[in-house]
Amino acid sequence: MSGADTTVAEAGTAANSPGFEPLTVEDRYPPPAARPDPNRDKGWFRRLLPLLTARRLTFGATLVCGVAGLTLQVSVPMVLRHAIDVALEERTGSLEAHVWALAAIAVAAFGLRFAYRYLLFWAAYRIETDLRSIIYEHLTRLSFSFYDRIAAGEVISRANSDIRSIQLLLAFGPLAGLSMLSFVLAVGFMLSIHVPLTLLAVATMPLVFLLGQRMRDLVFPLSWITQGRMAEVAMVVDENLSGTRVVKSFAAEADQIALLSRAAQRLRWSATALVDARARFNPLIEALPRLGMASILLYGGWLAIEDRIGVGALLAFSSYVIMIAVPFRMLGFILLQTQRAAASSQRIFEILDEVPAVADRPGARHLVDPTGRVEFRDVRFAYPGADPDAPPVLDGFDLVVEPGETVALVGRTGCGKTTVARLLCRFYDVDAGGVLIDGNDVRDLTLASLRHHVNQVTDEPFLFSESIRDNIAFGRPDAPLDEVVRASTAAQSHGFVGELADGYDEVVGERGYTLSGGQRQRIALARSLLANPRILVLDDATSAVDVQVEENIHSALRGLLADRTTIVIAHRLSTIALADRVVLLEGGRVVASGNHTELLASEPRYAAILASADGHDDSSEQALL
Ligand SMILES: Nc1ncnc2c1ncn2[C@@H]1O[C@H](COP(=O)(O)OP(=O)(O)OP(=O)(O)O)[C@@H](O)[C@H]1O
Ligand SMILES: [Mg+2]
Repeated sequence: MSGADTTVAEAGTAANSPGFEPLTVEDRYPPPAARPDPNRDKGWFRRLLPLLTARRLTFGATLVCGVAGLTLQVSVPMVLRHAIDVALEERTGSLEAHVWALAAIAVAAFGLRFAYRYLLFWAAYRIETDLRSIIYEHLTRLSFSFYDRIAAGEVISRANSDIRSIQLLLAFGPLAGLSMLSFVLAVGFMLSIHVPLTLLAVATMPLVFLLGQRMRDLVFPLSWITQGRMAEVAMVVDENLSGTRVVKSFAAEADQIALLSRAAQRLRWSATALVDARARFNPLIEALPRLGMASILLYGGWLAIEDRIGVGALLAFSSYVIMIAVPFRMLGFILLQTQRAAASSQRIFEILDEVPAVADRPGARHLVDPTGRVEFRDVRFAYPGADPDAPPVLDGFDLVVEPGETVALVGRTGCGKTTVARLLCRFYDVDAGGVLIDGNDVRDLTLASLRHHVNQVTDEPFLFSESIRDNIAFGRPDAPLDEVVRASTAAQSHGFVGELADGYDEVVGERGYTLSGGQRQRIALARSLLANPRILVLDDATSAVDVQVEENIHSALRGLLADRTTIVIAHRLSTIALADRVVLLEGGRVVASGNHTELLASEPRYAAILASADGHDDSSEQALL
C-alpha cells in the first residue's frame, strides 16, 4: 500500500519525535549496574554473577577490611596470653604496653569492622535495588497474556520476599566466608598452643555439622512451603482488598474470612513445623560446643596444673573455642540461606525468563501521522491458553474502517467485540491474518507509536489514586490545565468536577472509587480525548451515564470525532446512533454491515440483538427513530 511509505519512519530516525517514548523510559532511578545472564542453561548463581561483579570494587574493599579486622580480632587472645604469661606470671614485661596494644587493636578493629559491614550491606542493598528495578521493568514489558494467568499477589510476593532472600545471601555469604576464615586462623593459633587440646576442642564440630545438615534437610522443604503459603495469604488479602465492594455487597465477609483463615492456618502449620524443626536442633547444636568447653577445662586445667601449658595459654585457648563455634553455626545458616536463595532466584527467573508475547520486533518502525485507516484482514484469534478444541474468538474476521469513519460494532455479549479492540491496540497478536493501520501490519510498528495513535476507552476504566487532573493528563503529563479542562468539558465531566471541593485537584480514592461509575467513565473518556489519538475505540465507554448526559457527550464527540477514525462498541441504540455504519459481529466474523435503518429492516439477527440489549431503553430508541 502506498500509504505505508508516508506514515511510517524508521525507528532510528524518528527516535527524537516527542510522544512515542513510554513513560518508563525516563530514568527516575539510576539504571541497574548490570543485568542477570539471560542464558537459562546456567545455574542460578552464575546467572546472578554479573550483578555481583558489577560491584566488585566494593566487594574487594569489603574483603580487605574484613580480613584485616578479622586478623586483629583473632590476635586478641594471643596478646592476652602474652600479657598474662609475661606481665603477670613471669613479671618480665610491662602490663601497660599490653593494655595499650589491646586498646589500639580495639580501635582499629572497630574501624575496620564498621567499614566492612557498611560496604557489604551497601553493596547488598544496591544489588537488591538493581534486581527490583530489573524485575519491575520486566513486569512493565510483559504482555496481557502473562497477567491473564498470574495473580497480582503472587507477583508482589516474588518481587518482595524472593528478592529479600537473595539479598540476605549476598550480605551474609561474605560474612560467613570471613567467619570461616576466622575459624581457620583460630584453629591455627590453637594448634600453635597445644595440638591434642585442639583436637579435643574440634572433636564436637563434625557432630555439630552433621546435626546442622539434618536440620537443613528438614528445614529447607518446610521453608519453601512456608514461602509459597505466605504468597497464598498475600493473594487472598490482595483479592479481598481489591474486591472488597463485591465481598461486602454479597455479605460474604464470613466466607472470605474463612478462606483467609484456611490459608493462614496452612501457613501456621508449615511455619510451626519450621519452628519445631529449628527448636529441636538448635539448642543441641548450641550445647555441643559447651560440652567441648567442659572437656577442655578438664584436660587443659590438668595440663596447667601439671605446668605443661601456661595459664595465659589456657585462657587464650578457651577464647578461641568460643570463637570457632560461631563460624560453624554461621556455615549452617548460610547453607540454608543458599538453598533458600536458590529457590527464590528460580521463582524470580521464572518471571525474568518470561518473554513478552507482544514486543517491538527488531527494526520496528514508528507510525507517524497516520490517516487512520484500519483494516482487519482475515483475522483468526484465540486467547492464549484457551481450550484448543473450542472455536477461536475471531475467525475470518474482515473489517475495513476508512479514515475519519465512525463504525459501530454490534454483537451479542461474549462474541468478541472487546477482543477486536484489544487486537487493534496490539494487546495480543493475531493467530492468523493481520491487523493493519494505514496498510502497516501493527506487528511491524513500535508499540509506543501504535498506542500513541490508537487508544481505547473501556466500560470499567481504571483510575489512579491521584488528582483528577493527573488522571486526565495520564497520557500527556505535561498538558496545560486549559487543555485538560477542554477534554473534560467534551467528556461532560467538567460540570461535576467543578462541584468537588478541590475541583481538578481532588484526589480520587483507590481506583477512583470515590466517583460514581458514570463519573469514572467520563474522566476516562477525557483522558483519552486529551491524548488525542487518531484512532479511538469506545468500548461501552458511556454505558454507565444516563441518556441525557450521553447525548451531550455525543454532541461534543460529533465535533471531535469528525476527523478521527472511531470504533464504537455499544449495546444502546443511542450510542450506535453516533456511527456512520454498523457492523454485526457473530460467530467470530462480520455477518452484516450497513446503516442502522438498513440493517434493522434487512437483518433479523440485528433486530434481535437490539431487542435483547436495548429492550428497556425506550427513550433512546425513540430518540433515534
Ligand atoms: N483475557 C482473556 N482470556 C481468555 N479468554 C478471554 C479473555 N477475555 C475474553 N475472553 C473470552 O473471549 C470471548 C470474547 O470476549 P470479549 O470480551 O471480546 O466479548 P465482548 O463481545 O466484548 O462481550 P461484552 O459485550 O460482554 O463486552 C469470550 O468468550 C470470553 O470468555
Ligand atoms: Mg466487551
